[in-house]
Amino acid sequence: MNAAAPNPIGPIAVIGGTGPLGMGLALRWARAGETVILGSRDAGRAQQAAAAIQRAVGGEVNVSGMENAAACAAADILMLTVPFENQASLLKHLKPSITEGSILIDATVPLAASVGGRASRPLGIWQGSAAQQAAELVPKEVSVVAAFHNVSADLLGGDAALDCDVIVCSDDPDAGQLTRDLAAKIPGVRAIDGGKLENARIVEQITALLIGLNIRHKGHAGIRITGLPPQAYR
Ligand SMILES: NC(=O)c1ccc[n+]([C@@H]2O[C@H](COP(=O)([O-])OP(=O)(O)OC[C@H]3O[C@@H](n4cnc5c(N)ncnc54)[C@H](OP(=O)(O)O)[C@@H]3O)[C@@H](O)[C@H]2O)c1
Repeated sequence: MNAAAPNPIGPIAVIGGTGPLGMGLALRWARAGETVILGSRDAGRAQQAAAAIQRAVGGEVNVSGMENAAACAAADILMLTVPFENQASLLKHLKPSITEGSILIDATVPLAASVGGRASRPLGIWQGSAAQQAAELVPKEVSVVAAFHNVSADLLGGDAALDCDVIVCSDDPDAGQLTRDLAAKIPGVRAIDGGKLENARIVEQITALLIGLNIRHKGHAGIRITGLPPQAYR
């Protein structure tokens, strides 16, 4: 069922939204009553993905599909969910379509798999992290936030509440807060302020460890941070 939208935050454009992570986030936000635009290189593929989410949620949902540039132009919250090896070229292509004052939430995990290595090994990035690379490529007035790296797309795509925390890193406190509010709309997720964007390097690398754990133990690992005061968790 689509819940009535308590304090909707969107519209949210999910760029590269036809993959498992983009679809999973879109599904959860659509269920929470958010307006979501799925982006793809192919508008038809985006519309098919949006229709699949409409079927999964049922009832009245605000999900549509567009080509990535049109999706960027239609929203000022952009969720980037593409493979690391395509992140830079796609952002260069989309730069003219990203509106001033937008927030770009980046979930890109740089893995050695991008260069023929293992998915359980992180890839070193000159800028420090994929999120900092993204920050160099978007227009100046765009705030970049790093989040959702440690969430399992498989679990997001299901119906059950998740059992994980989302660490949110940004140099813009307001953009970080908005992203934590979005994360907290996913049942079972607690969002935590992880500090400056440079900390994304650490959060991104945790995913390589989680992938290794998933391979070793055949699961869908996530993380929980314990020991912080209650107000640290959103
Ligand atoms: N899967 C997870 O559990 C998970 C969890 C946390 C973080 N992440 C990270 O989130 C990102 C997305 O993960 P995913 O598993 O959803 O990825 P994916 O399925 O490999 O790719 C997502 C989408 O990216 C688009 N894409 C592919 N090649 C492209 C290119 N050359 N140029 C532009 N767009 C391209 C495709 O959309 P179109 O073909 O429709 O354009 C595809 O559906 C990755 O960086 C991953 O490391 C994944």
